[in-house]
Amino acid sequence: MEEREDACPHIVLEELEIPQGSTGMPRQSFGPTAPVTVPQTSDPLRRAPEMFPESILHTNRLILRPFDASDIPDTHASCADALTQRWLPLPKPYTLDDATNWCTTAAHALRDSGDGIQFAVTDAYTKRLMGQVGLKKTDWRALVSEVGYWVSPWARGHGIAAEATRALALWLLADQQFQRLELRAATENTASQKVALKAGFHPEGTLRNAGFVHGGRVDLVLFSMLPGDLAPPAQHYKS
Ligand SMILES: CC(C)(COP(=O)(O)OP(=O)(O)OC[C@H]1O[C@@H](n2cnc3c(N)ncnc32)[C@H](O)[C@@H]1OP(=O)(O)O)[C@@H](O)C(=O)NCCC(=O)NCCS
Repeated sequence: MEEREDACPHIVLEELEIPQGSTGMPRQSFGPTAPVTVPQTSDPLRRAPEMFPESILHTNRLILRPFDASDIPDTHASCADALTQRWLPLPKPYTLDDATNWCTTAAHALRDSGDGIQFAVTDAYTKRLMGQVGLKKTDWRALVSEVGYWVSPWARGHGIAAEATRALALWLLADQQFQRLELRAATENTASQKVALKAGFHPEGTLRNAGFVHGGRVDLVLFSMLPGDLAPPAQHYKS
């Protein structure tokens, strides 16, 4: 794990043949569950509500795949970690039940609801969990989504977050044809802002008092990536 991440990690995209709603997990009240009613009209700006296809993304060092029960112990350790707890408003204390719910139910329910898609970031060689990256607050009409992430304590400092985020951004903006990906990081979360810049995001300004962590309200730096910010697709895909 000595090498730094590529500026443009090679990724291979793979969509799983899983019918909608067949995660095998019971739907439960988590995230936005109310059905979005966007009528089908001739207005090209109006799109039916959608959900992302269950997918697996590959980079040189990582496999991004859906969470499953095998991730529960490492998710528990990662989300109970002090740095993760400092910057993300996760349950506190973060229990094994919280990790179980996330890995087997909540992460899948969020995709089913249309909110976004959540990936377990795993080592391509050891298969161990190294973090999480996901999309949330997806606006299907504007084709805008927001990325969030954490990296497990044992995987930090090796450019994992930027490599995973870059792969997800390429998938969203090139394959899924979205028009904008946003990233918000607390003004004092220097590591996350470095991740944003290394992944190819552009800073747009500071959103005052826009976020909250366990320590209180925080200002957030807003970053964005657009399709035009990507290099030609041929440079990103393995042939
Ligand atoms: C932010 C986080 C995802 C970064 O993941 P990572 O894969 O370790 O990121 P990197 O290896 O690219 O390191 C990030 C950069 O920040 C630097 N950094 C780390 N801690 C730092 C600190 N306290 N102050 C300043 N810089 C710091 C690293 O040296 C590195 O810089 P470099 O690329 O110039 O060497 C990880 O620290 C984490 O999980 N934090 C807790 C959850 C979180 O903050 N999520 C994001 C919320 S917006």
